[in-house]
Amino acid sequence: MATLPQIGTNWSELRDRLRKMKQEDYAWRAGRLPVYIYHYTDELLRISQEAYMEFFTENALGRTAFPSVVKLETEVIEMGIGLFGGGHRAGGTFTSGGTESIFLAIKTARDWARKEKGIDRPKIVMPNSGHAAADKAAHYLGMEVVRVPLRSDFRADISLLEAAIDDRTCMIYASAPGYPHGVFDPIEEIGELANKRGLWLHVDACLGGFLAPFARELGYPIPAFDLSVPGTCSLSADIHKYGFAAKGASLLILSDREHLKYQCFEFSNWQRGTYVTNTFQGSRAAGSIASAWAVMNTLGHAGYREIARVIMGTRERLIAGVEQINGLRVIRPSDLCIVLYESMDPNVDIYAVADRMGENEWYVGKSITPRAVHVALNPVIARALDDYLADLAACVEHVRSTK
Ligand SMILES: Cc1ncc(COP(=O)(O)O)c(C=O)c1O
Repeated sequence: MATLPQIGTNWSELRDRLRKMKQEDYAWRAGRLPVYIYHYTDELLRISQEAYMEFFTENALGRTAFPSVVKLETEVIEMGIGLFGGGHRAGGTFTSGGTESIFLAIKTARDWARKEKGIDRPKIVMPNSGHAAADKAAHYLGMEVVRVPLRSDFRADISLLEAAIDDRTCMIYASAPGYPHGVFDPIEEIGELANKRGLWLHVDACLGGFLAPFARELGYPIPAFDLSVPGTCSLSADIHKYGFAAKGASLLILSDREHLKYQCFEFSNWQRGTYVTNTFQGSRAAGSIASAWAVMNTLGHAGYREIARVIMGTRERLIAGVEQINGLRVIRPSDLCIVLYESMDPNVDIYAVADRMGENEWYVGKSITPRAVHVALNPVIARALDDYLADLAACVEHVRSTK
């Protein structure tokens, strides 16, 4: 067990120890880790890091102390509102990640429903593919989640969603796209349903929000999913995923900034004065705001479009390569950045293939339903793809021959 040392150790020794510890991790730079990291080029990483370091010490809680941070944050939010079709009434919040954005969306909808609809213990209705962060938020917020089965194409089933709505429902939660299958829920139809039933629609675009608009600019068929869709009340999109900023960066955008009053927490019965925040966090890293600002301004539409070209091209190569392997099949649809593949051969258990790949130092995600391998695409995977496919073919043969 670690204990606080009586006297300190010099930094060069500590740095060596840090670097040594990392050697045990999956080699993400070599493209062996298709989750958790979002890396494009070393140049972009350097910009992100330098911007972070410029604001390493500042605290985004201190709005009067650091007008610079407020300006950066405001600009990032405004860029997000523009990108995600927020109108002139929209307002946003920079948060620490998808989980916090989702938490705040659900808290806002809960307090909106309590105040404006008189629902004391509001419920959320969502398709089974919705991220677990919604259940986590509901758990913390004393709310109930009703999950409903998906259509056979893994999208939300409107009639099942509608059937699950009752007089305590305040929110429909939909994904654009969802993490388990990478498909978009039919946001336009869900928006109509939300309007008809007077419900809050949250669109979770945490994963693909910073990729989908640019894939669409390249001509890929991306369905309407953002705040321009009637009925959408809030949208979350993570800048620390396909936005390529430092971790600790996401946006929650409300279609009507009036609703910020339900997001806000204010406490005045305190000896140190009134405490007001729109976020779950108190002290907040200004570095991640500066990183997001710098990366977004470095890339612009053209840069993000180029990244989308790399990712979508890698997706095509991965799909074609997997389908060349005897016994494997790609599960469709794959709308954006997630590819699932399964085994069609009873002599090849796909989890055994995944485990064998793991022994070869590939980090492999296993999907439970359907039983498949789950790949989240990232530009670093492009450079490892030929090796990945060669190893995959060998692992399938190994599993088949040792059955
Ligand atoms: C669709 C979706 N929503 C929410 C999240 C949660 O984001 P975070 O891990 O940044 O809290 C993720 C993470 O992968 C996601 O894919």
